[in-house]
Amino acid sequence: MGGLIIEENGILYSFNATKCMFSWGNLSEKLRMGNLECKDEVIVDLFAGIGYFTAKAKLVCACEWNPHAVEALRRNLELNSVSDRCIVLEGDNRMTAPKGIANRVCLGLLPTSEDSWATAVRALRSEGGMLHVHGNVKDSQESLWTAHLLKSIDEIARSEGHRWEVSIEHVERVKWYAPHIRHLVADESGSIWKMPHDKLHADHPMVLPLLQNVGVRAPGVSKEF
Ligand SMILES: C[S@@+](CC[C@H](N)C(=O)[O-])C[C@H]1O[C@@H](n2cnc3c(N)ncnc32)[C@H](O)[C@@H]1O
Repeated sequence: MGGLIIEENGILYSFNATKCMFSWGNLSEKLRMGNLECKDEVIVDLFAGIGYFTAKAKLVCACEWNPHAVEALRRNLELNSVSDRCIVLEGDNRMTAPKGIANRVCLGLLPTSEDSWATAVRALRSEGGMLHVHGNVKDSQESLWTAHLLKSIDEIARSEGHRWEVSIEHVERVKWYAPHIRHLVADESGSIWKMPHDKLHADHPMVLPLLQNVGVRAPGVSKEF
């Protein structure tokens, strides 16, 4: 049992600093996450640590494999009166993470969370959602990293049978981790590809063959297929 209790952004943390990870340098990222509008969302935190992403969501599934961090996490949920909105999944997230339920998945592991990217995609709902992917990246290789991330998540989503449009909405530079190495967070969204409504007409080259295949008449078009 650790003796340290701190307050940050109105959230209380109690943890043993010799056995659990805590970084003051991540304060701006915690603030950014804390300000997200997520009260109706289910969040899966694949690397929860002692927990900071618990306060506002409808439900958080917090994965963590360090027993000391799990103990601190449970205590912190009680301290902040949010135990009823958080499920702690102890063990390796690749085995414990839920599938198909998340609006948002946090991947807060450095230097890379890549081993759990497929787990993160599987955790998202079938209509898609948002991934917050952390990584340590050389300052000269930021665009290479985002291109690799984009391609990988797109490929994983396809292999899972999703027809999502995958894009990187934002890259947050959290801190310098070491000389020329930045801690980055990419906010990557995957959402079901939708034809804008005003383009849904029967003679659109992408729509026409689909309509012909299924024998459906296009809205507002008199011609039957
Ligand atoms: C860098 S800490 C991040 C904690 C938290 N996101 C934060 O910023 O305060 C990463 C945490 O992930 C846990 N972890 C690493 N790999 C894991 C895995 N495969 N499954 C579950 N937990 C894991 C570690 O024990 C550690 O507590």
